[in-house]
Amino acid sequence: MNMTQMTDEAWDYLRSIREDGSSPQPPRSDLPLPCLPLYETIAARKGPFVLAQVGQSLDGRVATPTGDAQDVSGCDGIAHLHRCRALVDAVIVGVGTVVADNPSLSVRSVPGRSPVRVVIDCNGRIPAGAKMLSDGGTPVLIIQADDAPLRDLDQEIVCLPRRSEGLHPQDILDCLAERGLTTVLVEGGANTIARFLDADLVDRLHVSVSPIIIGSGPMGITLAPVDRLAEARRPDVTVYNIGTDIVFDCNFRSRTRQATSRESEHVLVTDTA
Ligand SMILES: NC(=O)c1ccc[n+]([C@@H]2O[C@H](COP(=O)([O-])OP(=O)(O)OC[C@H]3O[C@@H](n4cnc5c(N)ncnc54)[C@H](OP(=O)(O)O)[C@@H]3O)[C@@H](O)[C@H]2O)c1
Repeated sequence: MNMTQMTDEAWDYLRSIREDGSSPQPPRSDLPLPCLPLYETIAARKGPFVLAQVGQSLDGRVATPTGDAQDVSGCDGIAHLHRCRALVDAVIVGVGTVVADNPSLSVRSVPGRSPVRVVIDCNGRIPAGAKMLSDGGTPVLIIQADDAPLRDLDQEIVCLPRRSEGLHPQDILDCLAERGLTTVLVEGGANTIARFLDADLVDRLHVSVSPIIIGSGPMGITLAPVDRLAEARRPDVTVYNIGTDIVFDCNFRSRTRQATSRESEHVLVTDTA
């Protein structure tokens, strides 16, 4: 496991890659900085890139049954989430998260730029009093289905075709790309992340696990059931101890896995994209 050491110099280095588009020399440090690979891939991206992140308990929960989610993650997990926000063009949440948490989705725990905020609100039910709609922060983009009643809000509202399963995540990414927003963080909740995973559109998934057992309540990720473990997703995973939390950095695009079916025994499968 990588024990992360994030220093001011290391964070400045990552921000300059992201914000200036430069290729600076990695910071000199007496300490090894194994945290860099966790963020360098995101910081260096100029094209389409989807990072999803979930902060969950040891038993996989993201909130209590009454919806108390403040804060499942420890202080280092929150700093990690804010670093991820600072490295992307846009942060995406489902309307369920806005209703439950009333988040601002800004970068506060670390120095950095806040991303554009995107709410997937298929049926036009975002509360008019939601904090992000009037806090004077970065722009908010609301994405609705084309047959939903158009809300009377000051923010830009984009209407996308309603498909059988709702809005297709690729349609959402395309509409963001048209606005120059190509590196995105899907921050939750579980429903929204699952739709991007099911559409195979997630490049990296950060599962940040905090040493707390909630015992009941919504799970971080719920996907369509599979019958056999051979059908389970097996990303390449690197594990980082970031202090209060452990981050599992799941890479869905460069994957080396041992095939598990009898027919393909001894076959090493390598996917790179
Ligand atoms: N710990 C964490 O990392 C974390 C992060 C974020 C949220 N949370 C927690 O997660 C919970 C909320 O999560 P959730 O899963 O219930 O809700 P959610 O994912 O925030 O929102 C789901 C809703 O968003 C809309 N939506 C999202 N993607 C869509 C798509 N592709 N097409 C159509 N509609 C789409 C739908 O709205 P309609 O229902 O109107 O159709 C859907 O029901 C809260 O308890 C919150 O505290 C935890």
